[in-house]
Amino acid sequence: MAITSANLKPAAEPRRLTILGSTGSIGTSTIDLIDRNPGAFEIEALTANKNVKLLAEQARRLRPQLAVVADPGLYQELKEALSGTNIAVAAGPEALVEAAGRPASWVMSAIVGAAGLQATLAAVRRGACVALANKESLVCAGDLMLDAVKRHGATLLPVDSEHNAIFQCFEAEGRKSIEKLILTASGGPFRTRKREELRDVTPAQAVAHPNWDMGAKISVDSATMMNKGLEVIEASHLFAMPEDRLDVIVHPQSIIHSMVAYEDGSVLAQLGSPDMRTPIAYTLAWPQRMPAPSARLDLAKIATLTFEAPDEQRFPALRLARQALKEGGTAPTILNAANEVAVYSFLGGKIGYLDMTAVVEDTLTAIPAQAMTSLEQLGAVDREARAVADRRVQALGLKR
Ligand SMILES: NC(=O)c1ccc[n+]([C@@H]2O[C@H](COP(=O)([O-])OP(=O)(O)OC[C@H]3O[C@@H](n4cnc5c(N)ncnc54)[C@H](OP(=O)(O)O)[C@@H]3O)[C@@H](O)[C@H]2O)c1
Repeated sequence: MAITSANLKPAAEPRRLTILGSTGSIGTSTIDLIDRNPGAFEIEALTANKNVKLLAEQARRLRPQLAVVADPGLYQELKEALSGTNIAVAAGPEALVEAAGRPASWVMSAIVGAAGLQATLAAVRRGACVALANKESLVCAGDLMLDAVKRHGATLLPVDSEHNAIFQCFEAEGRKSIEKLILTASGGPFRTRKREELRDVTPAQAVAHPNWDMGAKISVDSATMMNKGLEVIEASHLFAMPEDRLDVIVHPQSIIHSMVAYEDGSVLAQLGSPDMRTPIAYTLAWPQRMPAPSARLDLAKIATLTFEAPDEQRFPALRLARQALKEGGTAPTILNAANEVAVYSFLGGKIGYLDMTAVVEDTLTAIPAQAMTSLEQLGAVDREARAVADRRVQALGLKR
């Protein structure tokens, strides 16, 4: 992967930036940083799924060339909301790809789920610097994505706080003599609950993360610890690290964002308050730094940092993700698709909290993994996994 700071000059003029998923949690944090650093960025394109109101507000203020809504039925609404401006308007999944393909040197990839894959790939294929928040695209397309990064000379800058922390350690220390990577996990809102106490958890309880303010899907993933599983897969691709050299440690305060252990026994860590604007700022300004308003660490006030081993009995999602990573090929694609179906079914009240990992496990068992050969094959596997997971959801829903 072409991640080196040597071949990039400091940003002397405004960076041209496209934000895929500008209306989400990462998207709005990105815009907050842009607002606080006037003159540093120009916006090429903004995209959303359905939130036309916020997208139009953002577009009227930031004046991109193009605003895209993924839901084709909302084209007219967006067009009207932006009437009287010279901002081009488009709708539908192809328009997302068009937005990502436009000439912005930097792309914030912040769509949630595999829905972000094609647009992220379009940015990669024109050799852009891609700040990657959309971990699901790397989980489901793994080697195909990395091949495209290499082939087109693109750069992936990890936004996820854990991977961003490791990336920052690497920038300081290089990538030699590494023994293992240690990803920290907050443990989510149910860290101390017994498994039987999780049966009646509601969506509102599951999205209420103790430390981070995030979108609904990643909040549920954090509660089940599937998020950490997806991150283990993401780290394996980003940093070319095998599964058995990727440790997870539960650290409820979310102050240490991750660590790199070296063969001489040294461990480097990156610390900060739990505010995504710090890792986002790092990817927007890289290889420089830019100001971000995140609360400054007061270690005397925090006083105690604690650590626990993850419990894969109570949180089997982590085990399933590790299993899919070890199996390789299309197994992570199946895991990711089934998990998306499970999470949205839980959020929609169709299945219970504990059913989510059952849907993922059953789908992984039902579909044999194959070697990953093409995007077309990956699309077919993703659709098949969603269909199998949907059937499992229906069966579980009937029992409730
Ligand atoms: N939030 C965090 O703190 C955090 C931290 C690390 C990594 N991440 C990763 O960053 C990504 C975004 O997370 P988030 O929390 O920002 O999610 P979010 O708040 O739900 O926002 C998702 C964004 O994607 C858009 N979107 C949703 N479905 C889409 C579709 N089918 N087609 C096109 N656009 C679609 C949404 O548009 P609408 O607003 O119109 O629905 C919104 O702009 C995820 O992959 C997540 O794992 C997030």
